[in-house]
Amino acid sequence: MKTVNYAIVGVGYFGAELGRIMNEQEGARVVAVLDPENGQTIAKEFGCDVETDLNTICSRPDVDAVIVATPNYLHKEPVLTAAKYGKHIFCEKPIALSYADCDAMVKAAEKAGVTFMAGHVMNFFCGVRHAKQLIAEGKIGRVLYIHSARNGWEEPQPEISWKKIRAKSGGHLYHHIHELDCIQFILGPATAVTMTGGNVAHKGEKFGDEDDMLFLNLEFGNGTYAIAEYGSAFHWPEHYVLIQGTKGAIRIDMCNVGMTVKTDDGKEEHYLVHETKEEDDDRTRIYHSTEMDGAIAYGYPGKKPPMWLHGIMKNEMRFFNGIMHGEPVPDEFRSLMTGEAARAAIATADAATLSLRENRKVRISEVI
Ligand SMILES: NC(=O)c1ccc[n+]([C@@H]2O[C@H](COP(=O)([O-])OP(=O)(O)OC[C@H]3O[C@@H](n4cnc5c(N)ncnc54)[C@H](O)[C@@H]3O)[C@@H](O)[C@H]2O)c1
Repeated sequence: MKTVNYAIVGVGYFGAELGRIMNEQEGARVVAVLDPENGQTIAKEFGCDVETDLNTICSRPDVDAVIVATPNYLHKEPVLTAAKYGKHIFCEKPIALSYADCDAMVKAAEKAGVTFMAGHVMNFFCGVRHAKQLIAEGKIGRVLYIHSARNGWEEPQPEISWKKIRAKSGGHLYHHIHELDCIQFILGPATAVTMTGGNVAHKGEKFGDEDDMLFLNLEFGNGTYAIAEYGSAFHWPEHYVLIQGTKGAIRIDMCNVGMTVKTDDGKEEHYLVHETKEEDDDRTRIYHSTEMDGAIAYGYPGKKPPMWLHGIMKNEMRFFNGIMHGEPVPDEFRSLMTGEAARAAIATADAATLSLRENRKVRISEVI
């Protein structure tokens, strides 16, 4: 098997672990990293080169693909540079913080003829894939409504991470784009959105400047709706995706981790959300411990991802490396591998942001 060589731009919490996992894959090797803060340390650990210039790392003839795991507001330049040099790309979520930036990135990858995979982890949850399969088989009839919640309570912070600064992370909605992407993964792109909310309980120097309570009311134009809640002003933490159909319902619970399928014959079936019971139970334990503020947990350089997330990252890297080795893209992941699904999620997030700002319903077509 030939070896595919990877470069990583941004090797903090996530980028470093993606690199460790990629180095364990068959026919995969991380050959260079770029990160002004953590590049030297991680290059030493990986036994690879450290670069300091984006053009230099992306133009290396021995680099086949670039993994981008910089802070959210710094994804665009490395993605455009990788595309410019014809390198395949894996970019962490959210791929960018505006539709215009996403569009430029998607088009650059398309023009270069390269893969542009977004790190939308929920696509790789066993539970989400299983739910999609059950829906396709008609198990719960036609989907009418999805309700997602990703809520917790944020305590005063000893220091303010970039993840809490709206201009750098996009705030809860963009930074935790997962649930919105998951809803659109199941229902297709929304047609209109109304968003209410604001920063109701986290003002002052111990907090960032993001909105801590957001309620998105999504329409899909065919008698199908969704509501997505996000924020850190909820003392009763919740994290779930609940899918309601004409013949039953599916609840993917990420607090008391597990998936339940209820059908109109009165039956209830239980499945895993992650690959193993151990992963599901470990995630449940984390939610009920003091390791996080409800459903909100943030990593930082040097921290290790929890067992369930490590499992997903492994699946993502195995999948991306497989594609780099010429494996075909399954239909369900086609729009994930061009950046189009990620762009569609940001289009809806932008429309929601406009809705909140102008206090009105916004059609997604207004922002694309
Ligand atoms: N899919 C998930 O579940 C998940 C989880 C965590 C993080 N992420 C995403 O991964 C990305 C990185 O997040 P993180 O948690 O690792 O953050 P982090 O702060 O731990 O790491 C970011 C790294 O980028 C480096 N960096 C900053 N500017 C840079 C630049 N111009 N060029 C190269 N490197 C630069 C920093 O020095 C740091 O090492 C973000 O987009 C985040 O949203 C995804």
